Amino acid sequence: MQASAPGKVILCGEHAVVYSQPAIALPLPDLRAMAVVTQTGSNEFVIELPDLGERVTARDHPDHPVIQLARSTAEQIGLQSLPHITLSLQSLIPIASGMGSGAALGAALVKVIAAYSGSELPPQTVSRLVYESERFFHGTPSGIDNTVVSYEQAIWFERTTHNGRLSTNDQPAPATIEPITIGRSFWLVIGDTGVWAPTHLTVGGVRQRWQRDPDHYNALFAAIGDVVRSARSALAAGDLAELGALLDQNQTLLEQIGVSSPQLERLIAAARRSGALGAKLSGGGGGGIMLALTDEATHDRVAAGVRSAGAARVISTPLHGDRGVVHG
Ligand code: PMV
Repeated sequence: MQASAPGKVILCGEHAVVYSQPAIALPLPDLRAMAVVTQTGSNEFVIELPDLGERVTARDHPDHPVIQLARSTAEQIGLQSLPHITLSLQSLIPIASGMGSGAALGAALVKVIAAYSGSELPPQTVSRLVYESERFFHGTPSGIDNTVVSYEQAIWFERTTHNGRLSTNDQPAPATIEPITIGRSFWLVIGDTGVWAPTHLTVGGVRQRWQRDPDHYNALFAAIGDVVRSARSALAAGDLAELGALLDQNQTLLEQIGVSSPQLERLIAAARRSGALGAKLSGGGGGGIMLALTDEATHDRVAAGVRSAGAARVISTPLHGDRGVVHG
């Protein structure tokens, strides 16, 4: 028995989303985390994490995040205790790269425990359990990752309160989260700079600059908000040329906010030269990943371009339109 959940990327709106502008996030259906029941009739509940070389048991590691999440899942489905099984948690999603690997592993774990116990949890319950787990262990998750990986849908995400409560409060601001339409299939080429840049540091840097010059930064955030609203329409209409141009505009604004980097810009330039419809950094920036929008015919060429510009890793993945057209 097994269950899986996809990774995610932020298509546009990162950073400005902390200041109440909208963002769009996409699931990566071909890049998944998997939870597999490898043994039943074990003497206790065991989770193996081969990617990390870890083996945790409910008895010896009661406070481990995956054991805690397994417990809240068991409670949710009304089990008296954790089943005596061994699970393996594995992921194709690069760790700590803004691609939702932690949330996807969590969602796969929740789903496999439910399935093993003969129940099926609706996506909103999977999402809530994963969110609570991330919140407990990582502080103030935005709510984007757990939502996208649990619903496996493109989402519109917008906090409804003002001015970056996310980073200053324990309680994340309430958010509007809605599924959005992808009118036409496309490909994303994702290039990893290999430069480690934790999101809380780039978010903190933006906050300092915003505090020094709020009017300037609020104007940049508002401009990103306009780009994201137009991107939603372009996505729905399947207008990939327009969407690409909007991603380029978003990148320019992110550079003005100060979260780009020479490595990111080298990969972005290479993607554009190799025929991408648009390219930008994705997530926290400062390093981390970039993404390029391409169609089916060009994704190989763009991936080769990004690779030869020095990417530490390149992933190409299709995003399917909602109208059932695989390559629209
Ligand atoms: O790197 P990720 O995917 O966790 O994205 C960070 C997105 C930010 O807007 C920079 C921060 C946030 O919490 O929304």
